[in-house]
Amino acid sequence: MEKTIDQQKSDSQDIPDSQNMPDSHLRGLFMDELKELYGAEKHQLHVLPLLKKAASSQKLQNVLASHLDDTREQIRRLEAVFQKMGVEAEARTSEAILGITREAENVIAGTQRETATRDAGIIVATQKLEHYEITSYGSLAQHARTLEFDDFEEALETSLMEEKDADDLLTALAENYINDEAKGE
Ligand SMILES: [Fe+2]
Repeated sequence: MEKTIDQQKSDSQDIPDSQNMPDSHLRGLFMDELKELYGAEKHQLHVLPLLKKAASSQKLQNVLASHLDDTREQIRRLEAVFQKMGVEAEARTSEAILGITREAENVIAGTQRETATRDAGIIVATQKLEHYEITSYGSLAQHARTLEFDDFEEALETSLMEEKDADDLLTALAENYINDEAKGE
């Protein structure tokens, strides 16, 4: 979500001087990205169970359940970043995440129950969410490095790895099983 310069300044003012962090517009951008990523993760607490419920492949259900566990831990990591920044955690749900969620709902509404075709669509929808997060964590980790927020970088990189692992698992599932099954339906 685009912010005015005044809003960015107000974010910068959220961080106490005692934290000795460099004051810059990049820090304002970091805070915006952090809030949108926190919003995306919290949103996934609702979306992943819906996708899991709609999926019929046990393997796909397992990946979604495991990523739901990751998501809870990732939310805790982001809350720790807010805390270290001296700012109350704030979730912003971006238009992109709402759009991807609508696409996921459309996939479920437009496919039949207990089909590999629906599972293939669920994989695409979930990977769109993962790719949003991979981009966000990658950028945040890079900005943390630039801003010398050394305490946060490792946590952000850990979550980035989890997102990439989930994405790889979904790709393998689609390529090795589900897409071929869907082709035969
Ligand atoms: Fe996540």
